[in-house]
Amino acid sequence: MELPRFIAEMPKAELHLHIEGTLEPELMMSLARRNNVTLPYATVQDIRQAYEFDCLQDFLDVYYLGMSVLQTRQDFFDLAWAYLKKMAAQHVTHVEVFFDPQGHTSRGVAFDTVLSGLTDAFDKAKRDFGITSKLIMCFLRHLSEDEAFDTLAHACACKSHIHGVGLDSSESGHPPSKFRRVFAEARERGFTPVAHAGEEGPPSYVLEALDDLRIERIDHGNRAMEDASLVKRIAGSGMAMTVCPLSNQRLQVVPDLKDHPLRRMLEAGICATVNSDDPSYFGGYVNDNYLAVAEALNLSHAEIVQLARNSFIGSFMNETDKRAAVAHFDEFVDKAR
Ligand code: ADE
Ligand code: ZN
Repeated sequence: MELPRFIAEMPKAELHLHIEGTLEPELMMSLARRNNVTLPYATVQDIRQAYEFDCLQDFLDVYYLGMSVLQTRQDFFDLAWAYLKKMAAQHVTHVEVFFDPQGHTSRGVAFDTVLSGLTDAFDKAKRDFGITSKLIMCFLRHLSEDEAFDTLAHACACKSHIHGVGLDSSESGHPPSKFRRVFAEARERGFTPVAHAGEEGPPSYVLEALDDLRIERIDHGNRAMEDASLVKRIAGSGMAMTVCPLSNQRLQVVPDLKDHPLRRMLEAGICATVNSDDPSYFGGYVNDNYLAVAEALNLSHAEIVQLARNSFIGSFMNETDKRAAVAHFDEFVDKAR
């Protein structure tokens, strides 16, 4: 089987995806019209032209502006449903999805409006496509610890719909240790902790995420590769890293996709996975990420298989579901030979 077809058709999970980052310009325009929101863009082309980023903050400014069109339960359903239809077509069978409630509650949109619209869509995806999902609520790290605690209180009121807590937004200057207490409380309440670390921030931020937040998965983690003892520790722990190649390219975390550390991560024994982060903004969904990085690094068939297999192994599925998903994946690989 040709590589693009193999990548497109292999079963896979996506573990690093911000639902607000799937807002396509066409949907942004139509929701702006529906909700009478004025955007600084006249056309879909104007929106696309704004997607030139020098760094993470450049992107975040555009991302928070874009999400202002999301106001009703139906809007959040439409957003997630558009993503899930794409995932069904890309042979994604399981998704673990971030959402940023503080990006909405700060604009007067109720936490329940966000969560109910999203869960409507994920429930329908399970019924219609058999896609399973887990939601991970992120704290915006540029905001205060108190605001994170307020957000955690909302999550505790609907615990059954939220699997984990994460940490995202502007990394530089906002180390994981700022959220040590709120993560301790979240863990105590039964939420699985993850954090963006080492995307732009130094290796010490990855270390803090491990030791202070006691995370169970590292989001991005690129800069951990600068510290050999940290690499050894991550590999030895078996902890997964959710790597986002096209995001790294578009936010200039790597100068060129050819310089991406993904192969080095695998060679070091890290459970690296491939993900899209904010696909509407970064030029591709999960299959596009596999294909782009496979071509740039000339990845072998075995490396691609390892990455996709890792997406199930590194997921937060229960052990029974994980074993079944890996067996289904291995069966596909055997048949595709
Ligand atoms: N929020 C959405 N995408 C993000 C990213 N790549 N890094 C940090 N925060 C984000
Ligand atoms: Zn991210």
